[in-house]
Amino acid sequence: MIPLILLLFVAWSCADEVVPNLRVDMQPPEELQAAATRNVHTAFITMPVDHFDPQNADTFQMRFMYNEDYFGGDGYPVFILVGGEWSIAEGWLRGGNMFQMAVENRGYQFYTEHRYYGQTLPYTEFTAENLRFLNVDQALADLAYFIKELKKQPRFANSKIILYGGSYAGNMVLWFKQRYPHLVLGTVASSAPILAEVDFTGYLEVVHDAFLSEGGEQCITTIRQGILDTVAAMETEAGRRSLEAAYRLCEPLDYDDELTLGYFSGMITWRFSGVTQTASPGRIITVCNNFRTNAYGETPMQKIGGFIAVEAGLQDCWSGLNFQSLLNLYSSNNNNRAWYYQTCTEYGYFQNAPRSGTVFDPLKWLDISFYAEICKEAFNERFDESFILSAASRVNQIFGGLRPDVNNTINIHGTIDPWHALGVHNRDLKETSPTFTVPRASHCFDMQNWLSTDTIQMTQVKQNTRRIVGSWLND
Ligand SMILES: *[C@@H]1O[C@H](CO)[C@@H](O)[C@H](O)[C@H]1NC(C)=O
Repeated sequence: MIPLILLLFVAWSCADEVVPNLRVDMQPPEELQAAATRNVHTAFITMPVDHFDPQNADTFQMRFMYNEDYFGGDGYPVFILVGGEWSIAEGWLRGGNMFQMAVENRGYQFYTEHRYYGQTLPYTEFTAENLRFLNVDQALADLAYFIKELKKQPRFANSKIILYGGSYAGNMVLWFKQRYPHLVLGTVASSAPILAEVDFTGYLEVVHDAFLSEGGEQCITTIRQGILDTVAAMETEAGRRSLEAAYRLCEPLDYDDELTLGYFSGMITWRFSGVTQTASPGRIITVCNNFRTNAYGETPMQKIGGFIAVEAGLQDCWSGLNFQSLLNLYSSNNNNRAWYYQTCTEYGYFQNAPRSGTVFDPLKWLDISFYAEICKEAFNERFDESFILSAASRVNQIFGGLRPDVNNTINIHGTIDPWHALGVHNRDLKETSPTFTVPRASHCFDMQNWLSTDTIQMTQVKQNTRRIVGSWLND
């Protein structure tokens, strides 16, 4: 019997399903292998569940990691890498740009985990009721509490504190410095999308622009034709069969269900998004070369279907492309569900089909009502479009949207990073808060240590960031 059960389990775990690329999963830096021996430890701190209600005495355990190998002793600086919507991992205290800063300034390194992610769980059941303490206000207060507790230790009493964060955690460090300026000396905000926006069509506009600037007109023409042919194929029976073959679908789509067509549209855009968001120079060019040489398929539609299958390492065929299966992906108590909750109640960030002439425009099923339907069904009927719009405008109201008032924050963006469209990328935030926007750079590129694929400008911005942080510390 046992082998049979194992077989069933293996078959199930290998099912090819389309997983949305909506949450950033911060993978440790690439030079990690060389440094696997550096000492990183894990610990937990007791944290109030609700920092804003003195009558609520509930607590939870917040996970953090630390590396003290380079610490110079009493009063030397403390570097905190701030965790966002992912599980923290040791690699970030063994390499990367903040690690370099700690080495250069004899700093103590921490990495904090965001509440409701990884092992930092105020509640283990993610009901809408239990998720009400999941918001950035509480998460920033967690950091403030963490720093207050640190400062009780004599060795840190006089230490200057630097925060580094990327993506949503980039928002967090910038907003932290704005809200608690007395607690930290300065922050590095990498690829921070500080404007909450529900109808975020700008995301796919940047993906389009990245394929155009890296791959050229021929690449864009192929993608445009492939997507147009895909939408046209939905109209006839013969077309539908050729679509299902080109995209390697195990069974036909429900072509009458707009939500299922939204999921299918996401299957296409999320793959282009994933490639762009993480692209080092050369990556998009490789994809475009594969389109040109028919490596993914012959017709434009087959090329797109083949690209998705190859990129995802598809074993067999895509199964469960229906809205209910998509909802099921958000039904477990995990990082994906927690982050989707935050998009419904704080940021939107819905990567909708643009209406500006991009290759993705025809995938019109990717709209607010598609993403909002997940909010309603996964969490609460009340989380409809108007609820999400007011939630996002509340965030912009309290943090200032694209006009934050913050000193000593280094604000970094990359031009092919789709998230830069929601950040300040064309002016300094303030005299003390410079902005660096780097051509051909993708999401959070600066957090890594030097890579052989870096352009000169990427290397310079990483160095500049370390130099500026060093000058704050030695002032
Ligand atoms: C930023 O620094 C300047 C110069 O020290 C100061 O006048 C200003 O009040 C600071 N702004 C904030 C928001 O801290």
